[in-house]
Amino acid sequence: MSDLDKAQTFTRKNWKPGETFDPLISKRGAVGTQVVRIDGPLKVAGAAPFVAEIEVEGMVYAAIAHSTIARGRIDTLDVTKAEAAPGVVLVMTFRNAPRMAPTPLYLTQPLAAGPNTLPVMQDDAIHWNGQAIAIVLAETQEQATYAATLIKVTYVEETARLSFNDGKPNARVPETIIGEPSTVTIGDAEAALSAAHASVDHVYRSQRLAHSAIELHAATVRWKDGCLVVRDTTQMVNHTQWTLAQVFGIPPEKVRVSSPFVGGGFGGKSLWDHHILAAAASKLCGRPVRIALSREAVYRLVGGRTLTEQRVALGARGDGALDTFIHEGIAAGTPHNDWPEQFSLVGRQLYAADTFKIGQKVVDLDTLANTYMRAPGESVGTFATESAVDELAEALHMDPIDLRLRIEPDKEQTSGRAFSSRNLLKAYELGAERFGWSGRNPNPGQRRDGEWLIGMGCASATHPYYRLPGGAARIRLTADGRATIQMASHEMGMGTATAQVQIAADRLALPMDKVRFEYGDTDLPPGTMAGGSSQTASIAAAVIAAHEVLVTELLRLAGNDSPLAGLATDAVESADGGLRAIGDTARHETYASILARAGRDELACEANAADPTEYQKWAMHSYGAHFCEVRVNAFTGETRVSRFVSCFDVGRIINPQTASSQLRGGIIMGLGMALTEEALFDERSGRIMNPSLAEYHIPSHLDVPEIDVFWTGIPDPYSPLGAHGVGEIGITGVGAVVANAVYNATGVRVRNLPITLDKLIGRLPIPV
Ligand code: MOS
Repeated sequence: MSDLDKAQTFTRKNWKPGETFDPLISKRGAVGTQVVRIDGPLKVAGAAPFVAEIEVEGMVYAAIAHSTIARGRIDTLDVTKAEAAPGVVLVMTFRNAPRMAPTPLYLTQPLAAGPNTLPVMQDDAIHWNGQAIAIVLAETQEQATYAATLIKVTYVEETARLSFNDGKPNARVPETIIGEPSTVTIGDAEAALSAAHASVDHVYRSQRLAHSAIELHAATVRWKDGCLVVRDTTQMVNHTQWTLAQVFGIPPEKVRVSSPFVGGGFGGKSLWDHHILAAAASKLCGRPVRIALSREAVYRLVGGRTLTEQRVALGARGDGALDTFIHEGIAAGTPHNDWPEQFSLVGRQLYAADTFKIGQKVVDLDTLANTYMRAPGESVGTFATESAVDELAEALHMDPIDLRLRIEPDKEQTSGRAFSSRNLLKAYELGAERFGWSGRNPNPGQRRDGEWLIGMGCASATHPYYRLPGGAARIRLTADGRATIQMASHEMGMGTATAQVQIAADRLALPMDKVRFEYGDTDLPPGTMAGGSSQTASIAAAVIAAHEVLVTELLRLAGNDSPLAGLATDAVESADGGLRAIGDTARHETYASILARAGRDELACEANAADPTEYQKWAMHSYGAHFCEVRVNAFTGETRVSRFVSCFDVGRIINPQTASSQLRGGIIMGLGMALTEEALFDERSGRIMNPSLAEYHIPSHLDVPEIDVFWTGIPDPYSPLGAHGVGEIGITGVGAVVANAVYNATGVRVRNLPITLDKLIGRLPIPV
């Protein structure tokens, strides 16, 4: 019996991560059905309050003035004109800012959220071009924005490290790559490469990208009786709470952070200097502060995806099996953060080879701290690996899907762990069929439609399965037979609230309209951050734990008169709005009846999720197969993506509607990375040159074809509900599938994202 068959028939309780199956894997109910977003009506009616819309009595508005040099110190700073401007309440600079402790750096402690280790407005030092040098508070936003332009500043400049190329010889090896070894060596990969029957060895480059969520970063903050109250737009309420408490030297329980609605996150809606500056300025002036960053301020204060330069070298035998897998390179970072854009994680698990050489280094530059952005690492790592596999297939005169059949691993190569679930080849089979891959001409530059060159490509998508520790859920049952799930988690538009109502309804055996999910507030039991595509599993695991406690308490309350009398916790299951004996449907009592007989209005049970030990035992990853067709104009080099089909292997799908939207959104963000988006950086001044959506080109509707996403639907036996996250995997592999299709269309291989027309024009076969 396969693990999967066992999962289908499993009914025992007490889920142990990595060892036993979640009983809900085999249940059919709300999970897996199409449910429209429960927050949808509020949003379309404009009745969902986003943070920049919240009004607080006595509130003032903030604007930021930014440094225009990359490194040095402030020499003179004249704020008198700004202070005298109409409506201005306060101009805060390093001279009058309250003293604050350093911001604990993300990943150095469980709830640390600091983007860097730099003091925030505590001295005259400048560390990047765009750093805040003043925050202005005024009675209106317009008054604050205008007054910020009146600040006069001069600098003593120091030489800044701004050139990635100049820094490469001094690249450092980070201690770890987000906890994984910086380098992995198996055998002598370079020697195997030299001796290989066929090989490819190229360098791939990816660009700087800026976070461009529709909703700008904003917060509304006030101090009340020594407590700091923050209304935020964030994917980490508990981290923000704890970190602000450290900065202001108060206990975390004196900071409350709430974030009921988030207009897009992608990794950027975390803690940045504007939170700290707004809270400090509010303390100084004694009034609530609304800070809503302009688009330019987001680009200057909120980090994005950094530059990478990656070498992928593959050596193969005649049948395609790999002798060699080399993936090494450099990402740009800063001396004051530690976020290496973990592109080298991809090759540790994706394919089989005899020898491996994997590693990455960091070049420190004097820039804004880079950060996580949708599939950090895998998004750009797959651009390199999936382009290289395509190039190797051509060198071997082999179809790229046939090559992937030859390099499919039977276990995770660099760790030796078995995969909990891996159906990449199934995804290729289903995707190729739906896309019509058999109609592809393997010879590039052969298909034309007038002046348009047409080509097809494929590429793998992959992202790790994560579940984060530290979450707790509370289940409140009330006498009217309703349940409320409470956990400080996040709805950023991806459908968390909807999916969790579905999950809790099945877990409790209640109809969905009897279940509510409360989230986004540090007054609730602690959640985990919405990151790493981990939230669905993290919340689900906490609800499993709380449900176990709830069942125990319900049996205790049921007492001797109940049909459930005498049953042990593992002898009952939730069914029909109550509990029943496993294997004896006659012994059943509803939650409402149990509470009524015990004379209780409600029962609330809280528990911590089991630690995420499943991926110590198993290699757990999500996969997908992308297919696309592009049309490249032979005269202008303009590239249009005309068709896109992806089949994903992401475990069991909780809600087909919200999941397909996440997967499609990831692909659209990938099209921006592939073709149009780049945060242009002036290496002379360290300045981002295009800090606006007029000049930073995210895909618009006309850039995006109909995107057909579907899935294998095969549950992972070892995750809660058999599900994997779906937020990030969509973007992975998109850079490569577009580059591979452009190559098939034109015969021009672009190894440098984004694939803008300057990289194609003049190199294309002109139709005769
Ligand atoms: Mo993400 S980059 O884990 O929001």
